[in-house]
Amino acid sequence: MNHIIQFFGISLLATALTACGGGGSGKHKSSSSASSRAPSSSALSSIAPSSTAASSTPTSSSVAASLSVALKTLTTIPIGVAVSATTESYNIFDSTAQQRVVTHHFNQLTAGNIMKMSYLHPLENSFTYTNADALIDFASDNGMSVHGHALIWHSDYQVPSWMKNYVGDKTVWLAMLENHVKTITAYYSGKVVSWDVVNEAINDDGSYRNSIFFQKTDDDYIEQAFINAHEGDPIADLYYNDYSIEVDPEKMATLKTMLDDFIARDVPIDGVGFQMHIYMDYPSIATIKAAFQEIVVRDLKVKITELDIPINNPYSSGYPGNVKTTLTTELALAQKKRYCEVVAAYLETVPTNLRGGVTIWGVNDPSSWLISFLFDDEHDDWPLLFNANYNEKPALQGVADALSNQPCN
Ligand code: G3I
Repeated sequence: MNHIIQFFGISLLATALTACGGGGSGKHKSSSSASSRAPSSSALSSIAPSSTAASSTPTSSSVAASLSVALKTLTTIPIGVAVSATTESYNIFDSTAQQRVVTHHFNQLTAGNIMKMSYLHPLENSFTYTNADALIDFASDNGMSVHGHALIWHSDYQVPSWMKNYVGDKTVWLAMLENHVKTITAYYSGKVVSWDVVNEAINDDGSYRNSIFFQKTDDDYIEQAFINAHEGDPIADLYYNDYSIEVDPEKMATLKTMLDDFIARDVPIDGVGFQMHIYMDYPSIATIKAAFQEIVVRDLKVKITELDIPINNPYSSGYPGNVKTTLTTELALAQKKRYCEVVAAYLETVPTNLRGGVTIWGVNDPSSWLISFLFDDEHDDWPLLFNANYNEKPALQGVADALSNQPCN
């Protein structure tokens, strides 16, 4: 049974559990930062389960706990995290505690919001880069790369008003989008290593989303966005990014048709971003691996772009009666195992030259979008690698174990 949720214009499909649960210029074959499973690190075994429930208050002034071996040192793939900036809650620039763990463990940043369409291109003739520039400078100053998110996304206010109201036929619209994509990618050429070029263009039933872009251009905007992004920055890796492609066969089928078409016609695409907003009990590791494999066989890169794993799954039959309101040691260790298994599945399925990396969607638990969205601010959850105090959770050890080729337990 499928449930479709609407939130801020986002359509998120979650599948309920029945038991409780060649391309252009050779672009899609471009080289990558290849990696192999790194040696293990026994130093990581000292991470203790984090303390109980997260408060919803940022705690940047809390006592700093010692940090384990940096995740980024355990592998050569990009290890990323999405962060907030400017006026957002949990703005990384307001929290030295957040900066400390981010710069220690990660070597890639994604802007959780501030590089979306309405932020970078709020008016037709005005691009505003100042805030994104500050984040990119922060990344550069700390030896981190930046993954750009996202050049074209349908979601509600993320599409600037002027664009929503843009008047013109298909040719006019494609020209307008060409300017949007090319201007931004050219500006950030050399500063952004990869882009989510088009985000969430396919519905869960395999049809193309009836976004403003589709309404104006059919699905032509998708391939044109890749062509224009490549023109703006011929070096950056270009991804199609979406959720639930690992669990919805119809969605995957349309994606595969699109990819095969792009490859056959030399449309410059490098890979597929799997958002991976998943659950403790769904989907199975076998399902995840099979989906990665569909991309790998096309010689395209696979990037986990938005990984988070909440403890509660509101689509399980036991919810809300069995809702977890405390992060017990047992749950924290189960989450550690789950994170480990997901990252291990990625490393086992995706060959080194096709690994775009793994990004966690947020830093500390209370900052996660899932608290407000999935749980409607009714209770906490603990989907990320750090607790409210920016202390490492066992989940971080789980990622470390996978990167170190250690058993998941
Ligand atoms: O920054 C303003 C703040 O000034 C204001 O007081 C507050 C009041 O509502 O809103 C703040 O903006 C919020 C913004 O996040 C920054 O925190 C928006 O309301 C809120 O809609 C926005 O939600 C983001 C959502 O995308 C929609 O853009 C989430 O943080 C972000 O995690 C989420 O990320 C998406 C990916 O881009 C695509 N894949 C799914 C993923 C999760 O939904």
